[in-house]
Amino acid sequence: MKELRVLIVDDSDKTREIIDKILEYEEGIKVVGLASNGKEAIDMAQKHEPDVILMDINMPVLTGIEAAEQIMYRLPDTVIIMMSVQKEADYLKKAMEAGAKNYILKPFNTEEIINTIQNTYKKERDKKQQMEKIKEKKDMRAPKSIAIFSAKGGVGKSTTAINTAIAIKKETNKKVIIVDMDVYFGDICTMANVEPSITMIELIEEMVMISGENIHDYIIETEIGVDILAAPKKPEYADYVTVEHAKKIANILKENYDYIIFDLDNKFSDLNLAIMDQVDLILYITTMEITSIKNAKLGIDVMRSLNYASEKIKLIANKSDANYGISLSDIKKVLEREVDFSIINNDKIVINSINKGLPLMAETKRNGMMECFSKIAKGIK
Ligand SMILES: Nc1ncnc2c1ncn2[C@@H]1O[C@H](COP(=O)(O)OP(=O)(O)OP(=O)(O)O)[C@@H](O)[C@H]1O
Ligand SMILES: [Mg+2]
Repeated sequence: MKELRVLIVDDSDKTREIIDKILEYEEGIKVVGLASNGKEAIDMAQKHEPDVILMDINMPVLTGIEAAEQIMYRLPDTVIIMMSVQKEADYLKKAMEAGAKNYILKPFNTEEIINTIQNTYKKERDKKQQMEKIKEKKDMRAPKSIAIFSAKGGVGKSTTAINTAIAIKKETNKKVIIVDMDVYFGDICTMANVEPSITMIELIEEMVMISGENIHDYIIETEIGVDILAAPKKPEYADYVTVEHAKKIANILKENYDYIIFDLDNKFSDLNLAIMDQVDLILYITTMEITSIKNAKLGIDVMRSLNYASEKIKLIANKSDANYGISLSDIKKVLEREVDFSIINNDKIVINSINKGLPLMAETKRNGMMECFSKIAKGIK
């Protein structure tokens, strides 16, 4: 264990002196300062940043409890050990609430004080390391779910969904799935040129038997690097997909994928709202048309009234360079917010890619639109 730097705080000169003497001879412990009240303790703690503070409770100017509270606020990693006499038991509870990690009752012997310092410090250090490990693991595994939405049809939601998904795959090389939640007229399989041999309808029918192990039987793997959970094959099956199903599907996928992209239709339906409630991020698409912008305003207002955090919604202007008399700054003004990303207008690339069944991000040869989706992927990953 590294050398522990200790600050001793007590208003009794004699007590400070005794503890200082005891610790002086202990290998692995170094006294970095002596303070005689709570205020001095705070000043010295800030100056020396000790690993451990031995803190008396009753002191003039500022008590040990008040000092402990302020030190924990400024230097939260400091391990504070309170020193008290038996009759101060009530104060000890307050001290622990203020952030002290342990206490020792006076009078104590050499062995007791040294063991308390070393053991308390070690316990706190182990706890911190353990928490860091858990956080790291969580960050590594934390799946991100993204919904692509617009209150207007035909604005480029599906084009954005599939190309953003591929861009995220290229950027991160993590597991990515597109869930085609346009349950009436899903376009994702057509755009990826795959036969929807199995869809979410079969998944729903067999939901009770679905687990992390067999979920892949219901998912289409593609050559473009991202998986697809296909929309129902026919509009008449759409109503089978309920809010409960959508929530369950989202939960199962979270255990199996790093990124889950939901392509939605343009309704504020219960189904869409259930998905938008659950996801981490909503990419809201508008084009440069006045009707699309008007609907975006209404749509974003609805989301505000649902108390979605403003960081949860990112605004994408599609066909942003199309010169139809409306500029990005007009959109900013009307929507009273920033445009987070823009996608350029290019009929040739987009329509060709849709007709070929090869999303533009999956082309081997670079094209002028890839940069737009790469930027989105980088900005949201
Ligand atoms: N950046 C673009 N440049 C040129 N054309 C585009 C662009 N984005 C989309 N389009 C055109 O708009 C059409 C609709 O796109 P897409 O299917 O992605 O929209 P959508 O919002 O998913 O539509 P729906 O509401 O029907 O689901 C495409 O077929 C394409 O012709
Ligand atoms: Mg669509």
